[in-house]
Amino acid sequence: MSDSALNTFQQISHPILPEATADELSRQEFVKSLKSYIQSDILPGLKLSYDVRSAPAYAKENGELPKDRWAVRKAMKHDPYFQGYVSLQRISQELMWRSVIESVDRQLPELIAKVDTIKGVGGTLDLDSHFEVPHYVTALDIHCMPGGYAGVVAENDVAAGAVYDRGVYLYAMGYMGPFNDDMGRSVCNYVTRKFPKFKPEKIVDLGCTVGHSTLPFAEMFPDAEVHGVDVGEATLRYAHARAEGMGLKAHFTQQDAASMKYEDNSFDLVVSHILLHETSGKAIGEVFKECYRILKPGGLMIHADLPPFGDMDAYQQFILDNETYYNNEPFWGAMRDLDQIQLSVEAGFDREAVSFDTAPMAIMEFAMADESYSEEKAKELSEREFEAGEYAPGGGWEVLIARK
Ligand SMILES: C[S@@+](CC[C@H](N)C(=O)[O-])C[C@H]1O[C@@H](n2cnc3c(N)ncnc32)[C@H](O)[C@@H]1O
Repeated sequence: MSDSALNTFQQISHPILPEATADELSRQEFVKSLKSYIQSDILPGLKLSYDVRSAPAYAKENGELPKDRWAVRKAMKHDPYFQGYVSLQRISQELMWRSVIESVDRQLPELIAKVDTIKGVGGTLDLDSHFEVPHYVTALDIHCMPGGYAGVVAENDVAAGAVYDRGVYLYAMGYMGPFNDDMGRSVCNYVTRKFPKFKPEKIVDLGCTVGHSTLPFAEMFPDAEVHGVDVGEATLRYAHARAEGMGLKAHFTQQDAASMKYEDNSFDLVVSHILLHETSGKAIGEVFKECYRILKPGGLMIHADLPPFGDMDAYQQFILDNETYYNNEPFWGAMRDLDQIQLSVEAGFDREAVSFDTAPMAIMEFAMADESYSEEKAKELSEREFEAGEYAPGGGWEVLIARK
């Protein structure tokens, strides 16, 4: 399997995954292909347009080339190629949700009814009818997903979960793996390789949404008690049904990761996967404090996300930061400027016990292990730098890791 082949396989079904009719599927596949086309065929031309047109014009006017991402944006904002690129990105995102929502709406009553028929394996679901979802989650529809993470449209709702599950597969164009679980799988691999003697007995995944990254922990640490925490009712209900239907035991609770009801010193491993960029500056510090509090001495905190801006040039930062401007991701750019090491220290961790590292993408390792994959291609993939705009972050997820 080559890396481009990752864009062609289908999501593997499970008992609660919405099914698409032929028409719905063709609309969804169109969006997936459009996203892939924008990334592989439109985005490269944007750099050309910046290098030969916008950057020199900016330099002529300002006496220097753009030196940070805001200056690059100023240089590019009126460029027609840039405007076409971001408009297409936005349209593809809106089309993606529409193609999924039509399909989920059509079958929502059946999906809700199905939840009770799934023969389980003993995982639990703990929803809180008095729970107040943090304002930064409900204030706008994050990444343009109508209704957002915490939207509820029916009694015993699972819609937001179903929409997210299918939407992520299309958004990631296959790079999250057939179960959308690449982040969790990659972090599990990272933990088992880096700490072969570490046998966590209790694990919690914060901001678990539908449990995509939670379940690899249940699979790869079968003796551990695995928990998932999120603020969204419908996503958690879906997460529970999905886990039970896939035969993997996990316990899902509706809680704010910045103030959890777990006891002090009760977990060996606390993880999150792309939670941090969807919280707020204030919440991140609170979440780190909670991680420190609930971890047993010697326990590990690992947060996986995309790389900090410090590792990229201004142009790459600018491209990534388009998510902030055009995809309803208000904290996407700001989070990457935060000093997460300092925030971890303020939460209680020793400075020397906190660092950034890279967890190789499990799906890339899988592709590279395939016979048809050349040594040369594998080397190129593992050595290349992250390029903003591509989905797969250069073969690895950035992890912030701290030991209590
Ligand atoms: C990008 S999604 C995470 C994806 C998921 N971890 C995965 O790997 O598939 C971000 C999630 O964080 C949740 N979230 C945001 N703020 C939160 C908080 N304070 N406590 C718990 N969950 C939160 C959102 O509801 C959303 O489900």
